[in-house]
Parts: sequence; structure tokens; C-alpha cells
Amino acid sequence: MSLIKFKNLISLFNFITLLLLCCSSFTTSSSQQSMKDNETLSSNSGNFTLGFFTPQNSTNRYVGIWCKTQDFVIWVANRNQPLINDSSGVLTISNDGNLVVLNGQKDVTWSSSLTNATSKTNSSFTLSDYGSLVLSETTTGNTIWESFQQPSNALLPSMEFTSNMKLTSWKTPSDPSTGSFSLSIERLKVPEVFIWNRTRPYWRSGPWNGQIFIGVQDMKMLYLNGFHFEKDINRGTVDLNFRADDYGLVIYALNPQGQMHENSWSIEKEQWIDTWTNRRSDCDVYGFCGPFGICNSEGSPICSCLEGFEQRNQQEWNQKNWTNGCVRKELLQCENAKNQSKSSQRNEADSFLKLSNVKVPDFAELSSNEQDECKNQCLMNCSCTAYSYATDIGCMSWNGNLTDIQQFQTGGTDLYIRVPYVELDISDKGHKGTITIAVSFSIVSIGIIVIVIVAYFIWIKDSKSERKKKLHTIFRFHKIEKPEEHTSDNVNGELSQAKLQELLLFNFEKLATATNNFHSSNKLGQGGFGPVYKGILQDGKEIAVKRLSISSGQGLKEFMNEVVVISKLQHRNLVRLLGCCTERNEKMLMYEFMPNGSLDAYIFDSSRNKLLDWEKRFSIIEGIARGLVYLHRDSRLKIIHRDLKASNILLDEEMNPKISDFGMARIFGVSEDHANTQRIVGTYGYMAPEYAMQGVFSDKSDVFSFGVLLIEIVCGRRNSSFYEHENSLTLLGFAWTQWREGNIVCLIEPEIYDHNHHKEILRCIHIGLLCVQESAIDRPTMATVISMLNSEIMEIPPARQPAFLLMQNMMNTVCSEERNEVYSNNAVSITDLHGR
Ligand SMILES: *[C@@H]1O[C@H](CO)[C@@H](O)[C@H](O)[C@H]1NC(C)=O
Ligand SMILES: *[C@@H]1O[C@H](CO)[C@@H](O)[C@H](O)[C@H]1NC(C)=O
Ligand SMILES: *[C@@H]1O[C@H](CO)[C@@H](O)[C@H](O)[C@H]1NC(C)=O
Ligand SMILES: *[C@@H]1O[C@H](CO)[C@@H](O)[C@H](O)[C@H]1NC(C)=O
Ligand SMILES: *[C@@H]1O[C@H](CO)[C@@H](O)[C@H](O)[C@H]1NC(C)=O
Ligand SMILES: *[C@@H]1O[C@H](CO)[C@@H](O)[C@H](O)[C@H]1NC(C)=O
Ligand SMILES: *[C@@H]1O[C@H](CO)[C@@H](O)[C@H](O)[C@H]1NC(C)=O
Ligand SMILES: *[C@@H]1O[C@H](CO)[C@@H](O)[C@H](O)[C@H]1NC(C)=O
Ligand SMILES: *[C@@H]1O[C@H](CO)[C@@H](O)[C@H](O)[C@H]1NC(C)=O
Ligand SMILES: *[C@@H]1O[C@H](CO)[C@@H](O)[C@H](O)[C@H]1NC(C)=O
Ligand SMILES: *[C@@H]1O[C@H](CO)[C@@H](O)[C@H](O)[C@H]1NC(C)=O
Repeated sequence: MSLIKFKNLISLFNFITLLLLCCSSFTTSSSQQSMKDNETLSSNSGNFTLGFFTPQNSTNRYVGIWCKTQDFVIWVANRNQPLINDSSGVLTISNDGNLVVLNGQKDVTWSSSLTNATSKTNSSFTLSDYGSLVLSETTTGNTIWESFQQPSNALLPSMEFTSNMKLTSWKTPSDPSTGSFSLSIERLKVPEVFIWNRTRPYWRSGPWNGQIFIGVQDMKMLYLNGFHFEKDINRGTVDLNFRADDYGLVIYALNPQGQMHENSWSIEKEQWIDTWTNRRSDCDVYGFCGPFGICNSEGSPICSCLEGFEQRNQQEWNQKNWTNGCVRKELLQCENAKNQSKSSQRNEADSFLKLSNVKVPDFAELSSNEQDECKNQCLMNCSCTAYSYATDIGCMSWNGNLTDIQQFQTGGTDLYIRVPYVELDISDKGHKGTITIAVSFSIVSIGIIVIVIVAYFIWIKDSKSERKKKLHTIFRFHKIEKPEEHTSDNVNGELSQAKLQELLLFNFEKLATATNNFHSSNKLGQGGFGPVYKGILQDGKEIAVKRLSISSGQGLKEFMNEVVVISKLQHRNLVRLLGCCTERNEKMLMYEFMPNGSLDAYIFDSSRNKLLDWEKRFSIIEGIARGLVYLHRDSRLKIIHRDLKASNILLDEEMNPKISDFGMARIFGVSEDHANTQRIVGTYGYMAPEYAMQGVFSDKSDVFSFGVLLIEIVCGRRNSSFYEHENSLTLLGFAWTQWREGNIVCLIEPEIYDHNHHKEILRCIHIGLLCVQESAIDRPTMATVISMLNSEIMEIPPARQPAFLLMQNMMNTVCSEERNEVYSNNAVSITDLHGR
């Protein structure tokens, strides 16, 4: 039971329950120092038993742990050194403190093999409730060794299976010795589960996208069983574990034929039921169709070559020997270009063929590119043979052979295969691939780059008097080609970063003039870090100016750094930062002006709430989610907003939402997953429990805030409107109880309730409740939220009870000295709350 697990258990209630559980398992479970052949040791729950056993059709004795029934053995100690015709074995602690299995002659047949174990007299062993044999120090209870560190062939709930461990199959059902199959976690950048036949891959799960393995067709079911991966940056490993609390007893085991089975205990039938296996057809054998082949279990034959490829060996292929796979029919254009002798060929660039619902090939390379970039990057490198952009993973590309592709009927993801241009004609003839032409954009952008560079040199050479004119032409050209970029700041920004910084700097006088000397009539509102003013620049452009209070505590360098980073964020659901001002000890930020103000002015206002009907609200929810996905994942930098709330969502002319106020955003290194802070900033009611209590924040704390916001948008009630008495329900508590009782309609803002959208509204509330779950691990990522909103994920898992059900609960969790402040300021950001 690692301490890490405690981190996620926040509410006092859960914590106490757990504490009780822990204590009881230490005190009442019998721990002992030796066990004879005719004895057994059971776990507290009675689910697991440790003892000597003999497999069917064998006479050998082994020490093992079984679950529920004696034929379901999940761990074997002396699997490779059985006691032969010997029923006088003993499991005991040796003088050097190791756990050992002795045979009748007192020879050691198995040992826990620790070099630093404590002495025999001070340790004892027990069987934990989760099925682990634990050797611990008797006085302190510290674990010295446990069988979960050396698994046999089974993966159990709450076992931490890390990337340096492996499961190994039994040789045969009656021989537990190490078989030829093993299971491990590979490809750690985008982890996958592999099954090996000795050293050869035998099965792979496909990449993990945060919820499911995208190469496991029916993983939707497994997802519900709560698998998750955790990266351990210090150790450089990846841990896999799953929790099955809601689904009874579930155990995965690798059988002697190399197949993984999900076994579920049926309480009614009192027996194990095989509920899933990884092996459905030959397509599940790694690389069954060879390189560039694709396997379709519904197809006949099941192997075929990818579009634009043909069998390497026709004869073998006809005999259903697929191992040699397929080869390209035509050279790629980029290969032709390299080969001078063929330079007379047509010049069209290569293009990509889309395959839908596939298991992507092995050996993916991961890059931080966004969706459009992903394609271009692949197009630019001739050795890139395919790419895919998968939700929650990002941009994957492949070089060389494409191995182990499988066609699914549903699920999987889209894969884009590089083909020469000429293939377009062939593949048009009724094949299922869709063609996308990747040419136009890249040619245009190369064109722009060339022209800009040429023009730049001309400009440098030209006399100063000509300079302005030339610059003007460059920009004009640029504007025509890329109409979406309309400010000249932006164009310059692409020329050099130094210039960008210069241009972002506004001077103080200019801003003072624009805002009429920061006159109070121009004040738009008060944000967490200072007032916001409306300003009109000389050219008539409207801006919003945020004047940070002197006490905001950030150094100039960090401030500028953040400004530069944030100014590069461009997404239609984020408010654009136009510049900043740092003169006269001031720190000010200039944003684009949003004429429709903030979301809270609509959804919580009884006269204006009619202006946002359900469809509009849904598109706002979606827009906010998109903005957050961009911040969390697609923007290269991982940015946590930390203060998401209705008043920080601004609305443009068309009521499109834009996330604003990055004053508290934290920029993460790519490898960082979460961080700890002494300084807790944010707004009560929107803050995730782990953040409010421990200062631990991650993208999942933004997900929590998003969930609160979503529920507010649907209910039309302020989270803070519930803060009336200490013991009243919070908005989340209210939503949860109504949801549980099925009173959905009284949850929904009456102004927007529309019977036609009943299902969609329900779905939204469900997603909102998932986002506000107590444990950060349980909350979906924003990318998943989008998939759920768009109904790409049909089966939404049931939500667990949210955090902060009761007001009291919430108050207890947050430092009590701050109470008064909470009551009076509950709609305003708390900017500085030091832990005491
Ligand atoms: C186990 O066997 C020993 C003799 O080898 C005997 O003394 C003991 O009572 C037996 N225990 C049980 C539980 O049968
Ligand atoms: C044991 O042997 C019997 C008869 O040969 C066979 O039917 C059964 O499947 C075997 N059991 C195992 C676990 O090998
Ligand atoms: C084990 O005992 C059985 C009968 O009790 C015998 O048939 C078998 O040969 C013995 N095996 C060994 C390896 O001694
Ligand atoms: C065992 O525990 C006793 C006290 O409980 C301690 O004095 C002794 O040093 C310990 N022995 C070892 C080898 O740790
Ligand atoms: C033994 O050493 C390992 C690392 O080598 C360490 O993790 C473990 O805690 C040590 N055990 C004891 C009882 O000191
Ligand atoms: C595992 O590999 C061996 C050769 O190493 C092969 O003979 C055997 O058929 C393979 N097993 C399966 C199930 O493919
Ligand atoms: C023990 O088994 C029961 C089902 O019989 C299950 O509900 C329970 O969660 C299990 N306990 C543990 C600790 O695995
Ligand atoms: C398939 O072809 C490969 C290579 O040509 C050969 O080594 C292998 O034995 C063949 N397999 C079968 C089942 O014929
Ligand atoms: C280049 O062209 C020559 C002649 O057409 C051909 O023999 C050779 O294989 C080509 N090289 C590559 C790398 O395709
Ligand atoms: C193309 O990709 C390969 C494999 O990742 C890499 O080694 C090579 O440097 C890339 N070439 C270019 C021009 O980026
Ligand atoms: C691709 O597959 C072929 C056929 O199996 C093999 O000869 C070749 O070495 C593979 N190339 C790479 C880069 O793996």
C-alpha cells in the first residue's frame, strides 16, 4: 500500500475509512514466521489463500497463492524448483531474514533473495487483503519484500505493475515452471502492453491514449475496469495498474498458450468466468500479415496488402504464408527525386491515404506536433511512411516497415499511409480508403518562406528610404496567403522572436490615453490580480487592459517570459494577448476586447439567461473544452490555467467562448505531469480537492474546474449561491443527489430546458459529474471530455461521488482561518493563501 495512493483520497470520510482498513489489516491479520505443508494462511477478506498445492495431473508440491478456488492460482513461489514426492516442505524465514521454501531435507528450494533483509527474529509474513504475500518487520510493520514485486502470471487489482517487471506464463496447466510467454510494458513514450513468445513479439495492445489501448477493439469494456498508467519520472518507468472496485473481483492471467484472460468472480455462481481475452483471431498475432500488410478478421483472406503495395512473394502469399508481407508498387515521389536517373517523372508530391478504424502499426515515433503539422512533418521526410493523430496521444509517425496493422469494424483510429501521387487514380476505384491531398498547403508554405526570405534580403540590400515600401509588400503578400493572420504584430513575430518581444511592448502613455487615464468609467471589472479597463487605441481598435497590482509578486523576467509564451498561444477559444507594458514599475497586459463580456453575466442573470439557449450553451461548453485541450496538450507547452470559472470565460460578437485570464497559469515542462505549490491561488468552489488541500495541481485540476463550470452552465446557478449555511449542500452535492435520485429536470435551468435535447443535456451533466470526481485519476482528460461531448465515446463510465458534497466538508478541508474570507469573497479569486 503505497503512500501515493493516499494522495488521491481527499475527503475526510474516505480517509478515515481507509485508515480503519489499514489498521485492521495490520492488527487482526495473523502474521507468522513459518507455515507447514498441511497449513494455509488466508487473507482477511478470505478471498486469497496461501498454502502448498499440487496442480492437476502432477505430484509436485508448490507454495502458492490462490484466489477463491484452489485451481485459480495467482502466484507460485518455487515454480521452477518443485518439492518432488515431498509433503514435509515448509515456508519460513531463514536466519538471514529471507523468506524461503525448504523441502523435507531442509534444503532451500526458493528464496526471496534479499541481500539486506533484517534478522529472522524481527520479521514475519502475512497475506494482504489484495493477495500479496508480505514479509515485514514485526515491530514497525515496514514491508521488506512482497510477492507483488515478483509476479507470476497474474495481474491483480491494486498491484503496481511497472515497466521493469514481467508476467510469465506457466509451461502447461499442470506445470507452473516458467513458460515461453511473457507480458511486459513496452514503448514507454506511448506505453503498450506486449506479449512475447520468448524474444519474439506475439501480441501488442497498441498505444495507450490515457483511457484505453487503441489497438484493443473491445477495450471500451476494459476501460470501465479502471486501468491506468502512471509515469515515474525518477525511476524512468511506467506503472500500470487497474482498479476493479465497482466490478467485483477481476484478475488478468496469462495462460500457457500466451493468451491473456480476464477472469471475473461470479458471486451468484461462485465460480470464475472468462470475461475477455486478447486473442480473438489470427489477426491478434503480432505482424501476422507481414510488413505493409493489413489484417481483417472479417476479410477473406484475412490478409491483404495496403493500398499501393503488392505481395512480395505471390506464390507464398497464395499458400497463405503471409510472413514476407508486401512491397511498394511504385517508388514514392520523394524517392524518385533522390534518384537522379528518374528525374523526368511527374512531379506531384506524395499524398496520404486514410485508413479508418485501424490498429496502428508498431514502432510509432511521437512528436509534439499539432494536427496539421503532423501531416506536413511526415510529408517533408521521405523515410516517413505513415502518420496518425490520435486523441489524447498526439502526433505519431512511422519510418520504414509498417508492421501489425489491423482493420477493425469499430474503434481503432485513423492512419494515413504515404503513397505516390499516381496511386490516386488506382485507389479511386472503389476501395475504401479516402484520399487526402497534402500537397497544397506545404507547397504554398514553402512558397511563402522562399518569398519572404528573398524579399528580406532584397530589403536589407535596399536603401533606407525604400524600406517601408518593401516591408509593406511583404506583409501584403503574407496577408493574401494567410488571411487568418491579420495583425501586423503577428507577421513580424514570425520573423524573429526578438522583434516579437519588442513589438509586444506598448508604452505607458499610449495606454493611459487609450483608457482615459485608467478612468473608472472605463473599468470593465476586477480580476484576480487587478482591475481591467477598456481602451481604444488611436487607430480605433478596442482593447482590454489589465493592470496587475504591484503586489502580484512576480518578477519582471518571469512576467516577460510568461507574456511571450502566452502571446504565442493562438486558438479561437482563447483570448488573444496583444501586448504588455512594463514601464514605470507597472505591469499591464493588453488583450483583444470582447464586446459581450463574460459568461457569468448571462447564465446567472435572470433577465439575460434567455439569451443563451441550450444549443448556444452546448457550443460554449464545447468551445471551452477545446480551448482547454489546446492549453493542456496541443500547444506544445503544457499549460494549466488554474483559475477557470464563469467570469473568466469571455464571449465574442457571436457568443463564442474565449478563455481569459492566464494570470495564474503555470507552464509545465513537457515531462512534468503535476506540480506542487506553496501558494494556492484560485477560486473556492472551482478548486479541485487535491489542489485546495495539498497544493497539488495538474491538468486534472482544470478538469475539475471545468466540471463545476459545466454544471453551472446547465443549472444556471452559481456554485457560490449554495453557500448559505454550513451544512447545506454545495452545487456539486445538489447536482449529485438530484442525479442519483433521477430528478434531472429540476437540475436544469428552466429557461433552457428543451425536451428535444433531453439526452444531450443528460450527457453533459454526466460528463460534468465525471470531471468533479474526488480522485484526479478518475477524472477524464479534456480530450476525452471532447470525445464524450461529441458522442465519439458512447459508453460513459458511471460517475463516482464528487468532492465537496457538503459545505461543511468543504470548509473542513480548506484551512479554517480563511473562512471569513471565503464567505465574503466567494466569487473573487483568492490570490494568496499561504499554508500555515
Ligand atoms: C500438520 O502436520 C503435523 C505433523 O507433521 C501435525 O503435528 C499438525 O497437527 C498438522 N497440522 C494440521 C493443521 O493438520
Ligand atoms: C489432467 O489429465 C486429464 C486426463 O488426461 C485431462 O483430461 C485433463 O485435462 C488434465 N488436466 C490438466 C490441468 O492438464
Ligand atoms: C512419486 O511417488 C509416486 C507414487 O507415490 C511414484 O509413482 C513416482 O514414481 C514418484 N516420483 C518420483 C520422482 O520419485
Ligand atoms: C531486533 O529488534 C530488537 C528490538 O526490537 C533490536 O534490539 C535488535 O537490534 C533488532 N535486530 C536486528 C538484527 O535488527
Ligand atoms: C533493501 O535494499 C533495497 C534497495 O537495494 C531497498 O529498497 C529496501 O528498502 C532495503 N530493505 C531494507 C529492509 O532495508
Ligand atoms: C513460439 O515460438 C516458437 C519458436 O520459438 C514456435 O515454435 C511456437 O510455435 C511459437 N508459439 C506460438 C503460439 O506461436
Ligand atoms: C473479495 O471478494 C468479493 C467477492 O466475493 C469482492 O466483492 C471483494 O471486493 C473482494 N475483496 C478484495 C479485498 O478483493
Ligand atoms: C513462409 O515463408 C518463409 C520465408 O519464405 C519460410 O521460411 C516459412 O517456412 C514459410 N512458412 C510456411 C508455413 O510455409
Ligand atoms: C534509381 O534508378 C535506377 C534506374 O532506373 C534503378 O535501377 C535504381 O534502383 C533506382 N534507385 C532507387 C534507390 O530506387
Ligand atoms: C527523417 O526521419 C528519420 C527517422 O526518424 C531521421 O533519422 C531523419 O533525420 C529525418 N530526416 C530529416 C531530414 O528530418
Ligand atoms: C522490413 O521488412 C523486410 C521483410 O521482412 C525486412 O527484410 C526488412 O529488414 C525490414 N526493414 C526494416 C527497416 O525493418
